[in-house]
Parts: sequence; C-alpha cells; structure tokens
Amino acid sequence: MKTIIEPFRIKSVEPIYFTTQEEREKALEKAQYNVFLLHSDDVIIDLLTDSGTSAMSSAQWAGIMQGDESYAGSPSFYRFEKVVKDIMGYPVVIPTHQGRGAEKILFSILSKDKKVYIANTLFDTTRANIEFSGARGIDVLCPEGKLPQIPAPFKGNMDIKALEETILFQGPENIALVILTITNNSGGGQPVSMENIKAVSGICKKNNIRFFLDACRFAENAWFIKTREKGYENTSVKKIVQEMFSYADGCLMSAKKDAFANIGGFLALNDEKLATQCRNLLVITEGFPTYGGLAGRDLEAIAIGLEEILDENYLMYRIRSISYLTEKLYAKGVPVMRPAGGHAVYLDAKAFLPHIPPDKYPGVSLICELYKKGGIRAVEIGSLMFGKYDENHQLIPSQMELVRLAIPRRVYTQSHIDYVAEVIIEVFEEREKARGYTILEEAPLLRHFTARMQPI
Ligand code: F0G
Repeated sequence: MKTIIEPFRIKSVEPIYFTTQEEREKALEKAQYNVFLLHSDDVIIDLLTDSGTSAMSSAQWAGIMQGDESYAGSPSFYRFEKVVKDIMGYPVVIPTHQGRGAEKILFSILSKDKKVYIANTLFDTTRANIEFSGARGIDVLCPEGKLPQIPAPFKGNMDIKALEETILFQGPENIALVILTITNNSGGGQPVSMENIKAVSGICKKNNIRFFLDACRFAENAWFIKTREKGYENTSVKKIVQEMFSYADGCLMSAKKDAFANIGGFLALNDEKLATQCRNLLVITEGFPTYGGLAGRDLEAIAIGLEEILDENYLMYRIRSISYLTEKLYAKGVPVMRPAGGHAVYLDAKAFLPHIPPDKYPGVSLICELYKKGGIRAVEIGSLMFGKYDENHQLIPSQMELVRLAIPRRVYTQSHIDYVAEVIIEVFEEREKARGYTILEEAPLLRHFTARMQPI
C-alpha cells in the first residue's frame, strides 16, 4: 500500500514563530507553569486542543460570505437545520454558541428533579456543568478503557454491568440522563462500538431513562466502527452515523471538532416538550432559536463542515495520521495509549515519569518538558484536571495521568508530526530530569485552565 497522503492542498498559510529553549523557559515561568496561560505566538506546534482549531475548507470560507445575518428565520439556519436533521435524524435542532452552551441549557432543565448522570467518561466541561446544575456525574467505563497500554478495539465502551448496577443502586427515577461520549475524549479518544451504543440504549429504554450522545467526534467514532466492528466493513460512514444516532434520544454537539468549524454547537433531540423548555432558556442565555449565539455565517460553516467530515478519504487519513505518531513513539518504548485514539495521542504520564507521584502532577511536569524542549503545547488529562480533595485536603487522584497531544484537523503536515515525535523521544530519553509540581493558586471548578503552579 502507498503512503496515505493529506487529502487536501494548501491555499493559505499561517507563519509559525520559532523560539529558543531559553525564551520558552522564560515564557513558561511567566505563565506560572500553566500552558493555558502562554501566548500562542510562543508555541511552535500547538496541540493543546483539536477544538475550534481546524483549517476550514475553501467551500466553508465561501459559505462564510454567503451567511445571512437576519435576526430571525435566516436561510443559513434552515440550511444548517436540514444538514443536522439529515445526519443526526432528530426533528428538533437548537443552535448554541458552542458545546458547553448546549450542556448548560440541557442540564439546567434536567437537573431540576433528577440529580444523577451516568456516562462512559464525562468531559471536563460536561462534568462541571452537571455539578454546577446541582447534580453529579458517575463514570462507568469498561475495564479495558482504564489500562492505557493494553490494546482493545473499543476502549470507550460503557461497562454494561456497571451501568445496570448503578441504575439499580441510584434508582432509575433519579437518573437525569445517560451519556455516551463518542469518541471518549477523557479516556484517550477511544471509540464506542455500535453494539455498546445499542446495549446502552436498550437498558435506558427498559428503565425509562433518557439517553444522549455527546457527539463532538461522531465521524471519527464511525470510522472506527467501519474498520473494527464486524458487519460494518461495507457500510458507508454516513449510514453508520445515522444508525449510531438512531439509538439515542438526542445529542449534544460541539461543532468545533467534527464539523471543522471555529465556533458553534447544538442540541438535537426527539422530545418536543423538552425542546420547548430548552428554547425558552436559549432565548435568555444564547439568543433567538434560529441563531442561538452564532452568526449566520457560522451556521453556514457548520453545515458545510458536517458534510465534509463524512468523506471517507479524509477519515482514513485522519485516523492514520494519529496512529502514525502513536506507532513512532511506541517503537521507541515511549508509554503511549494504544491503540491510537481518533483525535489525539495520549502519553501515559504515570509510566513516563514513574518517579513523580500523582500529587506532584506528573502530567503537568511532562507538559512543561515538552514545551521547554520543543515548543510543543499539550494538555494534562489527569489529577490537575480531574483530581478532587478529601475532607483533609488530600488529593484524590484521577484514575489515569494522561497527557494529550490533540491534532487540529487539516492543519499540520507529516513533517510537523515527525518533529513532534523527535521532541517526545528526546524528553523520554532525559525523563529522570523532570520534577514534580505544586499548585499555588486554583479555582473551585475547572482549575486546570487557570491554576498557577511551581516546580518542586
Ligand atoms: N464534550 C466533549 C467530549 C468535548 O471534548 C468538549 C470540548 C465539549 C463537550 C465541550 O465543547 O468546547 O464546544 O464547549 N472539548 C475541547 C477539548 C475543549 O479540548 O477537548 P465546547
């Protein structure tokens, strides 16, 4: 087989600014060792997130010019609604400014009388919005999903037995929602199988519980089903996607991922009564129901992006480019989550820096080393993001200490990725030098965004 090439040509480019290690050490100190607080001009390869960082296509940029900015009833809304209905299959489509806007609205309503949410793994903003609404989230990820270095095809699956037990223990009448995050971002961008989606749906129906997909990376998930799940080899990605959504009562979507948009999101659902409540809240917080916090041009870009993401040549290249980096690192003994996920490479910081205990934040340490060595910006998905304190203010660590290198869509080429591999391997070879970190200052929710840290 020949090299799988980028299925696009480059028409417009952005410069990368190069910095020296000395300059980066200063910038990091100024940012108090939190890479969220760096100026992005000081970053060479920015793998902080794949969210809102995609390169839009020429068709999307053309759509931006065609966006209609009418306050109510814009044709751009109707185009967007038609595409979402066609792909996701739900009769109600409610635009929001981004994914968390949809979360805030849905959870504010559902948490009024039910206080428990169950998921494979809730993403950070999703969990925070649930907690902010006065409810709580319980993750029931399959056992193989908790072992970063043991390969399995669908490590994002929910543990079906644990789901049933949790429903029984909490009482079905107290469960606001069951959520499957596809792909499972906080658990390594790992996919969920169609069989698992179907099984979760069956249990929810039996117990009369609502079931939604957190669908930011739905197309990447569908590609894994096509290539890994028996019976789907010859089914088109679009058909797979439609089947995935058909088992749920609705979805929460951040269009900043698998819609190639720089901003946007939506809620789509079956239940008209719930939709009316959502729209009432939307008007107060996001905007009129035909724009929901977005410009007409954003709705155009999302509609076009949602169709582009279903291109199977693109998805083959996308998933291959992630596994390419994973394999390069694995070959050099770097502890990396396997198999590769859909949108990012995840380093196992616990195994990478075994001399740094969880309460000294090995993920943060690894991130600082990657930035200092090569100007690469990654994100910690470990005890800084998900750690909690017990009553004695001792850290209850996160299950895994991961460092995520998220690959923006259609932005970096193979040589950028080769450079990233070289830097990681160099940091790995000098890993004993890395030190732990302590927190100087932190916010009560989503502390990783603003925490100020210090090396020990
Ligand atoms: N759900 C998942 C699974 C996500 O990954 C994100 C965002 C959201 C919901 C919220 O969407 O950002 O549009 O409000 N994830 C980004 C990331 C921020 O870096 O993974 P949003």
